[in-house]
Amino acid sequence: MTIELEYMTGFGNEFETEVLPGALPIGQFSPQKVKYDLYAEQFNVTAFTAPRCDNRRNWFYRIRPSVVQGEYEAIDNALVRSAPITEVVTPPSMLRWDPVELPTEKTDFIDGLVTMAANGSVNGQAGIGIHIYAANSSMEGRYFCNADGELLFVPELGEIILHTECGKLAIKAGEIAVIPRGIKFSVELLTDTARGYICENYGQPYVLAERGPVGANGYANDRDFEYPIACFEDKQGDFELVTKFGGNLFRCDIGHSPFDVVAWTGNSAPYKYDLSRFNVINTVSFDHPDPSIFTVLTSPSGTPGVANIDFVVFPPRWMVAENTFRPPYYHRNMMSEFMGLIEGVYDAKEHGFVPGGSSLHNCMSPHGPEAEVFEKASNAELAPQRYENTMAFMFESRYIIQPTKFALEGKTRQPNYSQCWKGIKKKFKG
Ligand SMILES: [Fe+2]
Repeated sequence: MTIELEYMTGFGNEFETEVLPGALPIGQFSPQKVKYDLYAEQFNVTAFTAPRCDNRRNWFYRIRPSVVQGEYEAIDNALVRSAPITEVVTPPSMLRWDPVELPTEKTDFIDGLVTMAANGSVNGQAGIGIHIYAANSSMEGRYFCNADGELLFVPELGEIILHTECGKLAIKAGEIAVIPRGIKFSVELLTDTARGYICENYGQPYVLAERGPVGANGYANDRDFEYPIACFEDKQGDFELVTKFGGNLFRCDIGHSPFDVVAWTGNSAPYKYDLSRFNVINTVSFDHPDPSIFTVLTSPSGTPGVANIDFVVFPPRWMVAENTFRPPYYHRNMMSEFMGLIEGVYDAKEHGFVPGGSSLHNCMSPHGPEAEVFEKASNAELAPQRYENTMAFMFESRYIIQPTKFALEGKTRQPNYSQCWKGIKKKFKG
């Protein structure tokens, strides 16, 4: 089942959208009275004083302001964790995991959220949390709000609708969505089950990667990012708001749907992107360029070129490099790399890395093609070759990525992962 929703386009544009005519004030944000007796509310994901080019904020015109909610109480964090991870020691080992199992009991998005790893500091607003969701039920009468960072959804299985204060986004495998820090949302399943990866970005909001000498077009193009149109519901009931704040989960009663925004304007709204629109740029001569050429979104860290988090994809593409070892080269790297697979096979690992699975190669931990892939690729006839039905991705960060206890000691970990390199032979004939 695929649902078609209406969207506005253009990365980070100053959008305006209203369900009822005239709900958006003209020429000002906060008139003495708003049309239809709505409340005006500003929503900032950057400091008021952030430079204009980085500044992100919305104005909502809503049925009730967000202060109309109950008192928070702490609830069990279940398997949700935040950085720094202190429950287990982070080893420098290369790590890999099988997919998280799909639930058999009724499980919604919040129930089915498990943290695989995190880095940096949630309270220091640097680093990321890496989660997996696995659900078989829509969120009914409950809403989620993450004060700790924006959420990048990378679906692997199923199709979901993200209902948000700004409107609705439908996403499925092969697409991504980003929900800004603090935007309330709920997840509706359009399929019996849904599973995917989430990168929670504690740092600066994502921007599009620079293009350098490539020029004015290419990679992820601004016009392909889609934003929801305003869409409100006027609904009362015994509902629940779950908020992640400072690394912990809290709940409060909320007597109405928070999706009561009749009109909004601004540049800090949820958005989606179809990864098949990524304009892949690669060598037409020789050598394997660094994977940074596949960066879709990046969150800068303050040090030029050293990202808090890069979201990198490995899409279908042609390989034409001459006299070149075509899979990813063996390497060790200052950056830490968490990978997942949405579809098919990743070219460095033909065995054991499956859709829904994950791998982690931390700062300076060696990695690269498994033994069999090396043998095949170093002896292959180098005709132009099309990589089809594949979509791997990487969350790459400057901070050491710390797996959780669930990830290190749970049953999804593949204990013998490093065996994939055991068959590498000494070939030296000096
Ligand atoms: Fe790597």
